Amino acid sequence: MKILAIESSCDETAAAVIEDGRTVLSSIVATQVEEHRLYGGVVPEIASRRHAEAISGVTKEALSQANVTLQDIDAVAVTAYPGLIGALLVGVNFAKGLAFSSGKPLVPVHHLRGHIASNYLAHPDLKPPFLCLVVSGGHTHLVHCEDYTTFRILGRTRDDAAGECFDKAARAMGMPYPGGIALDKRAEGGDPHAFALPHPKVEGSPFDFSFSGLKTAVLNQLHNAKQKGLDVNIEDLCASLRFTVADILVEKTIAAAKESGMTQIVMAGGVSANSELRRQLQAACDKEGYRLYMPPLSLCGDNAAMIGAQGYYEFIAGHTADLSLNAAATASIED
Ligand code: KG4
Ligand code: ZN
Repeated sequence: MKILAIESSCDETAAAVIEDGRTVLSSIVATQVEEHRLYGGVVPEIASRRHAEAISGVTKEALSQANVTLQDIDAVAVTAYPGLIGALLVGVNFAKGLAFSSGKPLVPVHHLRGHIASNYLAHPDLKPPFLCLVVSGGHTHLVHCEDYTTFRILGRTRDDAAGECFDKAARAMGMPYPGGIALDKRAEGGDPHAFALPHPKVEGSPFDFSFSGLKTAVLNQLHNAKQKGLDVNIEDLCASLRFTVADILVEKTIAAAKESGMTQIVMAGGVSANSELRRQLQAACDKEGYRLYMPPLSLCGDNAAMIGAQGYYEFIAGHTADLSLNAAATASIED
């Protein structure tokens, strides 16, 4: 079964053709990151406009590289939520048009479910149930994936997402958008124990996260040094922040695995590209005897291949939509 998938929730316009939820026949990603970099972050109006310009060509290219036409496709899957509303609407309306004109079923996909499904493309043996750490620019969740389309949130961030913490700290250190990637690189030469950063706990909620205090601690270090006319060793500060964020994420993931008895651990989302997080989570899972699945770096960021993988499982579960489908800026992964 072949799914044509469309993704436009943030600053990548993407289309892909996926076979049986597991095989990538094509995956095209047109990124807008250079343009948003001028402004230090994603400008929603620009994102929508660029999606509208790119989506038709990107989709044609995905069909052509997969060597198929729309007639060979079994369903059209699209990221419908969560994300930037104007950006999502471009993909949703385009997918609706394709589905209507070709008479194919329309399958809405939750963006974070898509991130999790990127692992199905990379790991043919992976099947639910498993515990998943979802770490993206806007979300930090610990999720019990009971089956392909049933999700239960065990923990979530109370304030900033891990990616947001990296991006805001990196921006304050003068690094280009998206800061998480730049910060990861700068951290390689630094001492992860140079700065003692807070390790916030959320009272009464052992699997919930809080990253805003950590972000503030980094901003305070920069501010205090500036006031005193001192230089901050940026490599050391990046390494310390990266180490602390990874330590917090790994500690709670392992605690949730122990409590729930799950031994298959999965990571997903843009921040799962972070090298320290990958190292620490691998080491912790090896120590506990857990099996860890992570997406390859090529599938960590936003793409449509992951939407096609999840779209396949949503489709066979009967989760299709009619042409009244609307996009939504927020939506729980559970619903
Ligand atoms: O999943 P994603 O591509 O978009 C959302 O759905 O939000 O995640 C983007 C986030 C950004 O915050 C970006 O800085 C972060 O992922 N990111 C990283 C790395 N690569 C991307 N954060 C830390 N280390 C990285 N290597
Ligand atoms: Zn994403």
